[in-house]
Formats: sequence, C-alpha cells, structure tokens
Amino acid sequence: MRTIDEHGYHFEEWLTPARIAEDVEQVADRINADYAGKEPLFVIVLNGAFVFAADLIRKIEGIRCEQTFIRVSSYFGMSSTGQLQFIVPLQQSVAQRDVIIVEDIVDSGLTVHQLKAHLRGLGAASVKVATMLFKPNKLEYEDARPDYVGHEISDEFVIGYGLDFDGYVRNLDAIYKVKK
Ligand code: IMP
Repeated sequence: MRTIDEHGYHFEEWLTPARIAEDVEQVADRINADYAGKEPLFVIVLNGAFVFAADLIRKIEGIRCEQTFIRVSSYFGMSSTGQLQFIVPLQQSVAQRDVIIVEDIVDSGLTVHQLKAHLRGLGAASVKVATMLFKPNKLEYEDARPDYVGHEISDEFVIGYGLDFDGYVRNLDAIYKVKK
C-alpha cells in the first residue's frame, strides 16, 4: 500500500486509480442513461473537481453536452446561513439548461446548497449534482444530497485526485485517507 506524509500527517492509499476508474464509470453510465436526448451543461466547481470532471466527461457518451467552470468560496458572516462568494463567476448562461454540478466532495453540503439556489435563480431548467466523494454523516443541507456519487466516505480527511491539503497534493493519482 502506498503512503504519503503531508503537513505532518501520515496518509494511506484508500481508493486506487483502478477503483476510482470503476466509480467514475458507474457515475457516467447513470448520467448517460438519465440524460439521453438532453443536452446537459456540466458546471465544474474549481479547484478540486477538475480531476474528477476530466475523467467523468470523457465517459459521457452519446449525449451532446457542454462544460463550464465556477469557483466559489463559502463563508460565514454574522448570519448562520453563510453566503457564497464568486471568485470565478459563471461564464455561460444556465437559463433553461439541464445543469449537472460537478464536485470533488460533498461534506456539509453548504457549497452545493448555495450553488443550487444560485443556478435555479438564474433560470436553470434542472440542477443535479455529481460528486466523486460524499460524506453522508456530515450532511447539513438535505437539498444538497448528491444525485450521482462515486464513493461514500465517513467523516475522514482525504487527499489526492483533486482534493488538496492547503493547496497541495491534488496531483496524486489515488485518494489517500489520513491515518489516525
Ligand atoms: P461543503 O460545502 O461543506 O460540502 O464542503 C465542500 C468542500 O470542502 C470541498 O469542495 C472541499 O474543498 C472541502 N473538503 C471537505 N472534506 C474534505 C476532505 O476530506 N479533503 C479535502 N477537502 C475537503
């Protein structure tokens, strides 16, 4: 088993590149079936989702589709609901489009919760969510429950395959779990 040390923590390989490929394929197969005859627009959430998205969209077959990117950060001010800050705003109209948000991981669901509201406000016909990883035990926003999940994970910190630790280790070809 491969291991890596980062920021003073020890990580062990959890999902191998082969296992990730199976998970991505399973997600793509479901999207291919659900969107037959439609023209979805994938909204890829930067930075973390770019690796998963690159693999996923190349498994989308028989469907005309487009991709666009957004970069957001959630922060809490005085209000407990939080607000979404657009660091890279949407470059493309989502009005009347069947949108699929692509995320690396859904944790509390705050990012997806707010992004969905934003996209609906812009007139999207439908908004669904595809994520490589989902932490169901951490979900705080029920409407952020993802429609397409590569792999579920309990409350553990993971890195690699786009997921970073303070900006580093996104380049790892596998997903690693922190060793307690
Ligand atoms: P949420 O808005 O609470 O669902 O948080 C989603 C974001 O938190 C992800 O896009 C990641 O940037 C970050 N995140 C949550 N869990 C992890 C993890 O285990 N490793 C790396 N980043 C994580």
